[in-house]
Amino acid sequence: MGAPLGSGANARGVTSVASVIALANQKGGVGKTTTAVSTSVFLAERGYRVLLLDMDPQGNATSSLGVDKSALLHTTYDVLVDELPLGRAVAVTDRRNLDLVASTPSLAAAEVDLVSAIERERRLANALATVADRYQVVLIDCPPSLGLLTINALTAAHYVVIPIQCEFLALEGVSQLVTTIDLVKRGLNPSLDVLGVLMTMFDGRTRLSAHVVEEVRRFFPTRIFRAIVPRSIRLAEAPSFGQAIGEYDAASRGAQAYAQFADELLERLALPSPATPASNGRSAAVPSAALNRTGGSTEP
Ligand SMILES: Nc1ncnc2c1ncn2[C@@H]1O[C@H](COP(=O)(O)OP(=O)(O)O)[C@@H](O)[C@H]1O
Ligand SMILES: [Mg+2]
Repeated sequence: MGAPLGSGANARGVTSVASVIALANQKGGVGKTTTAVSTSVFLAERGYRVLLLDMDPQGNATSSLGVDKSALLHTTYDVLVDELPLGRAVAVTDRRNLDLVASTPSLAAAEVDLVSAIERERRLANALATVADRYQVVLIDCPPSLGLLTINALTAAHYVVIPIQCEFLALEGVSQLVTTIDLVKRGLNPSLDVLGVLMTMFDGRTRLSAHVVEEVRRFFPTRIFRAIVPRSIRLAEAPSFGQAIGEYDAASRGAQAYAQFADELLERLALPSPATPASNGRSAAVPSAALNRTGGSTEP
């Protein structure tokens, strides 16, 4: 992680290009999508220009934001496989400052369709390079595997955030993830770094949760975020309303934990305050966004 620089520049010393963060862990159900959705909405509400990229064929981030998959003209698949300019794949989320590149089950075919493609690991990185100046933060919600979709995300990212569930065998598979990150760093993306580890679904009533946090701390002595996300029914309910936790129940413990996480993320990225929070309408970010739906409301 780079040292914070003076105001006006982020941790990488760049003023105008987005910090790209992949939420990765090949285990399913650890909180990748919940973290991606909660954090992107928090940051957008604070005035940062945010792009959320759904790289999981299950499209949970897409549905969690209340976006109707059947009304989408373009998705992550088109960007990766057909090299559609990313700006044209942006879907309407009806949230100020937040753009989404959505995904549907068709994305599963990309793993196969890209096998013989040129620069197959760099498809997302190349696509993002064309829009990086429109955003301050890009969050990539990875699928629960270490296949070509996750490799594309790691190749495109500056940072990885690893959500880990406070459960038995929490660290299982994490060394494989770290090895994969190292391989990508060596071969494809030298600037990739682990920004931190987010402990999720912490249950304060059990000794197990506290034990798991200690175990993970031994593995990543300096990387665990201070924010720890509690197990919370409100977090599990929010997606079915097409809302992020900050919209669904801002006073809940889950919302507070994710707000603290968003603060820490900004701190570790050393991102300057958004210049003009009030005037950064979402349509200003990507004017072509409105093209990417067949019409009607995006509400569920
Ligand atoms: N802190 C939490 N407390 C309770 N339920 C949670 C929490 N975080 C996520 N969930 C729920 O657990 C399930 C898995 O979370 P999700 O974010 O989809 O994980 P992943 O993307 O890693 O597969 C989802 O149903 C989600 O709503
Ligand atoms: Mg997910």
